[in-house]
Amino acid sequence: MNTNGRIFTLDQPSTPIHINLDTTRKCNLSCWYCHASAGPFYKGPAVSADKVPEILATAEAMRCFDINVTGGEPLMWQGLEALADASQDLDFTSLQIITNATTVTDRTLAILERTKNLKRIIVSLDGLEDSHDRNRGKGMYQRTITNLQRLKDVVDNITVISVLDQNSHIGWQELTELLMKIGVRQHHLTPVCFTGHAMNGFDGLTQDQFTKIKMEADSMNAHIDPSQFLLVFNDTLVNEMTSRTLNMHKFVERFKGWLTIVRPDGNVRTNICTWGRTWRFDETLGNINETPLTQIFDGYGPKVTNWLQHRFTTEEEVTRKFHIGDNIELIQQDIAEVGASNQDVAVAISEREYEELDEIVIGHLPLFDYGQTLETFKPIFTANKGQYRLRKENGFGFMFDTVTSKVSILSEEEYEALAQI
Ligand SMILES: C[S@@+](CC[C@H](N)C(=O)[O-])C[C@H]1O[C@@H](n2cnc3c(N)ncnc32)[C@H](O)[C@@H]1O
Repeated sequence: MNTNGRIFTLDQPSTPIHINLDTTRKCNLSCWYCHASAGPFYKGPAVSADKVPEILATAEAMRCFDINVTGGEPLMWQGLEALADASQDLDFTSLQIITNATTVTDRTLAILERTKNLKRIIVSLDGLEDSHDRNRGKGMYQRTITNLQRLKDVVDNITVISVLDQNSHIGWQELTELLMKIGVRQHHLTPVCFTGHAMNGFDGLTQDQFTKIKMEADSMNAHIDPSQFLLVFNDTLVNEMTSRTLNMHKFVERFKGWLTIVRPDGNVRTNICTWGRTWRFDETLGNINETPLTQIFDGYGPKVTNWLQHRFTTEEEVTRKFHIGDNIELIQQDIAEVGASNQDVAVAISEREYEELDEIVIGHLPLFDYGQTLETFKPIFTANKGQYRLRKENGFGFMFDTVTSKVSILSEEEYEALAQI
């Protein structure tokens, strides 16, 4: 459907559509770039198992599309059983887990097996053996590949994330080919971001490398059937959107305020002025150890819309996240003010000029990629209704695909057409 260049204003989130549950910062690995600053010696707080039912129930009641269970290493988190128990009441909201897949046991597999609405498992693999083990330790590649197969037997919808740095951005195609052969469904290439441990010695991609990887991914995608396998370059801040359907990771990076992060210490935050897990001003909505989560979300819309006025421009965010561009002073100022602080303590923003958030004119973009239209999609939607979730917003709608984790931004007419089916 041609939406005639209509303006969709996505700056009034009513409630989040995606929750990142940062369970713990405990991890068996110590990746040099870890945005969570996780590692084996972490002794700080973790999200309490007691709080899990409340988090899931609140997400379900808000019609939040999904909860991304991450860490640290979520398979080492003591709340995993509670997650499986509480998931039995989920209907609308999906769960996904990101894991390094090196600590998988029969017990964790059994817990995951009974976790309702666990729609996909994301496994981190930074490349073939040499690249992966350089980042994650000797022997980790073999262990992850073996366990990936065991996880796949539990949830046959595996996505692999590869963090691309100065080493791993070369030769990722060989990993993609292997993943297609072993039945993985998606491969995401994620540029390393300057946050957490990565602030101790950044090794990010250059602008030219962003361009090169985009071209390489596009040319590889030309030979891949998207209904079988999705190869995604998470470059949304650097390269243009091509349609109004994008994966959840890209959506929340591009459109701020629709993501809420629950931190290991119980703080609940939005992601407006952040890069990775580094906050530039205090976006804390409350703490689940002190206040019921439903109460924390009271007044979410107006508060977030107000905070959105302070968001970075895309250029500023790209500079901070990836060190692309020439505003070195901005980065130096960040290192001085944020780098020295505990990442869980948001640093007051220095006085600077913010640009007002513009309305986002995306109505002229097609709804889908690959030439698909609403008309060709309708029979697919009809045949697989249980796979999709719809949510009505002010002046537009969302559709979420629980299998691919893609979010579509719908005009009111498109929303109504699907809601009637
Ligand atoms: C912090 S890990 C936690 C889950 C689990 N321990 C794992 O390794 O998959 C979540 C994901 O973020 C990615 N990641 C960590 N630090 C990053 C950074 N600085 N930039 C981009 N991605 C990062 C990891 O590779 C992983 O795919």
